[in-house]
Amino acid sequence: MSGLTRRRFLGVTAGAVGLGALAVALPGCSVLTQQQAGELLKSRARLPKPFTVPLPIPPVAEPTRRTPDAWYYDIPVREAEAEILPGLKTRIYGYDGIFPGPTIVSRRDRRTVVRHSNELPVPIAVHLHGGHTPHGSDGYPTDLVLPKGGWPHDTMPGDIAHGSRAYVYPMRQRAMTLWYHDHRMDFTGPQVYRGLAGFHLVHDDEEDALPLPKGERDIPLLICDRSFDADGAFLYPALDPKLVAPPGVKEAYMDGVLGDVVLVNGAPWPELEVTATRYRFRILNASSARRYQLTLDPQPSGGKAFVQVGSDGGLLAGPNPLDRVEIAQAERFDVVVDFSRFEVGSTVTMTNGFGDGGTKNVMRFRVARKAPDDSAVPKRLGDLEVLRTGQAKVTRRFDFQQGTLHGHQAWLINGKPFDPDRIDAAPPLGQVERWRFTTDIRHPIHVHLDPFQVLGGGDYRKGWKDTVDMRSGETVDVLVRFSDYAGKYVLHCHNLEHEDMAMMANFRTHAA
Ligand code: C2O
Ligand code: CU
Ligand code: CU
Repeated sequence: MSGLTRRRFLGVTAGAVGLGALAVALPGCSVLTQQQAGELLKSRARLPKPFTVPLPIPPVAEPTRRTPDAWYYDIPVREAEAEILPGLKTRIYGYDGIFPGPTIVSRRDRRTVVRHSNELPVPIAVHLHGGHTPHGSDGYPTDLVLPKGGWPHDTMPGDIAHGSRAYVYPMRQRAMTLWYHDHRMDFTGPQVYRGLAGFHLVHDDEEDALPLPKGERDIPLLICDRSFDADGAFLYPALDPKLVAPPGVKEAYMDGVLGDVVLVNGAPWPELEVTATRYRFRILNASSARRYQLTLDPQPSGGKAFVQVGSDGGLLAGPNPLDRVEIAQAERFDVVVDFSRFEVGSTVTMTNGFGDGGTKNVMRFRVARKAPDDSAVPKRLGDLEVLRTGQAKVTRRFDFQQGTLHGHQAWLINGKPFDPDRIDAAPPLGQVERWRFTTDIRHPIHVHLDPFQVLGGGDYRKGWKDTVDMRSGETVDVLVRFSDYAGKYVLHCHNLEHEDMAMMANFRTHAA
């Protein structure tokens, strides 16, 4: 066993031993339904009435420097206090000290360079989810940025930065809704839970030319669930709340952590005042384990509630009208809602068909007044290249299954836990491949570097995707082509508890 494998082995075992001492796994105590994998963690704080807090819109980050081919940002990562539940203080980890982090707005083919200095007490790795990014800036889980204040503990071998790192994003990709979040090996779940997530939008000429709602009527919505202690602190069942060792969560939460408060842009069940016009919402599910089925109540008459215009990988070829949006962790749905179909003065609730109790509600819109609207959803949206099965040169299989590792429960891919040293697939650049995913329970499966297309489709799997929401016991084939950047990347389950508990694998791209 190499030193690295042994360290990983010890890490997993130490975690699992801690777990084993706590409880015997009782699958019956966990919410394992067709809709959800996870265990509900109940808040101890007094929760606010829904729709009493205004929807915050994360500020757009200001570049510190601009050249014709690159914009530069400095975004420190630090602890801060936020008032999430009215009257209570929550200690957060935030990009620029806020949750969600500032929205970074990029332009296709113009480099974006973000320097993150780490003022937290724990290591970080920043990943741009959906980014077409060279390996060195992809936030590989062991490529850590250690705290400025030092880190007296062991780290696994990796490209270690001390105090800060500049992430370089060439942005050779279509207009799309991306997000950035923490990706530290074994501790992504708790660090994202504490607030390390934000939007990164890419614009291009193709999108600009469309008459979709823009400016103040193009709104990102980061939806996530959280639970709160009596004093307002985030509750999370980490084995080590200091996030040093061991990694992982208490046994009962092995399937995933479900909160009982729904936050949109960091506010509990907020309200947004809208005009009776069309709005574009870029919806992101940034939860650890919760899936949502979003609907509007009342349902508008005349047409579907939502018109989907974009997915993870940018604009669809044409509009996709939907009454419900089912969204798993890390997925993005860009939708247009036409509020002119509701009466001025009325309210419209975005509900969650998969929720129960408080999590049945997401947010509310108040239709305040009429206003001019020259926006439209055209029949043709993006220019979408369609990959064909005949182009696929190889088929690879990835089975996402629970298993045992040294006598303890873990989440595995092809029967193996994540090992940064093991390459599980080596696709040549430029080659179309067919990847077959199979699952035991629900897993949202995410591939870094390039998006894929889901064969067989389905209402929620249209266009270019980087995350596919897999049902229990399902087999899904996707076509993927890594276009450039040779190096080591990961694919993994985006249920963050599964990811932290080893459900991740490596692929290494190389020149053909
Ligand atoms: Cu959104 Cu590998 O992550
Ligand atoms: Cu990613
Ligand atoms: Cu999973």
